[in-house]
Amino acid sequence: MNAKQLAAEKAVAYIQDGMVVGLGTGSTAYWAIHKIAERVHAGLHIRAVASSEQSERLALELGIPIVPFSQIDEIDISIDGADEVDTELNLIKGGGGALLREKVLAANSKQFIVIVDESKLVNKLGKFPLPVEIVPFAANLTINKLTELAGEVNVRSVHGREFVTDNGNLIVDCYFQEIANAKQLNQQLNLIPGVVDNGLFVGMVQQVIVGYADGTVTEMGVS
Ligand code: A5P
Repeated sequence: MNAKQLAAEKAVAYIQDGMVVGLGTGSTAYWAIHKIAERVHAGLHIRAVASSEQSERLALELGIPIVPFSQIDEIDISIDGADEVDTELNLIKGGGGALLREKVLAANSKQFIVIVDESKLVNKLGKFPLPVEIVPFAANLTINKLTELAGEVNVRSVHGREFVTDNGNLIVDCYFQEIANAKQLNQQLNLIPGVVDNGLFVGMVQQVIVGYADGTVTEMGVS
């Protein structure tokens, strides 16, 4: 079992019968979705909400019951990956472009568990370019404002075409290198008109489960 899968399977053990479960996005969440499906086939009853169309498709293919955001009031547990996790368990997310729905899920979850391999652990956030979701109609103006904060920014593209999120927006990757104050930056970014949200998840995590290449797993929690 690889390190991502180890962390994912440990997290899925926290899911109990009857729960509403938030499904993350990415290569680590992939393993969690597979394990959840295995438990569903073994008799676990849950309803799941997906943080992306990609995860929703996977979940449905594997037989996990999916409900839309509009049909739930609260999520019991969300399990998702991250691009960076700092020593205070703040995160950069959005490498897969699903940060907005991921953040809505995390903000409305009683328990938000992050699953990573050891490569995601950092002292300071920022080496991984911070994804910021922006509305397309004012992209140039919003990018100007982002450039004042970040210096180097890059509109994400895939195969030569602008990447469009599940919400119809664009992603701008911002190169901070080192983020001194994640809480402040999160607020500054979200105050820019045209910014929908950004990939900083500050003070949102209850638990981080880390899988290691040697087959061990550790859990870090917020006390
Ligand atoms: C998706 O938008 C992201 O937030 C992912 O959760 C994050 O990029 C981690 O992805 P991996 O598990 O594939 O590294």
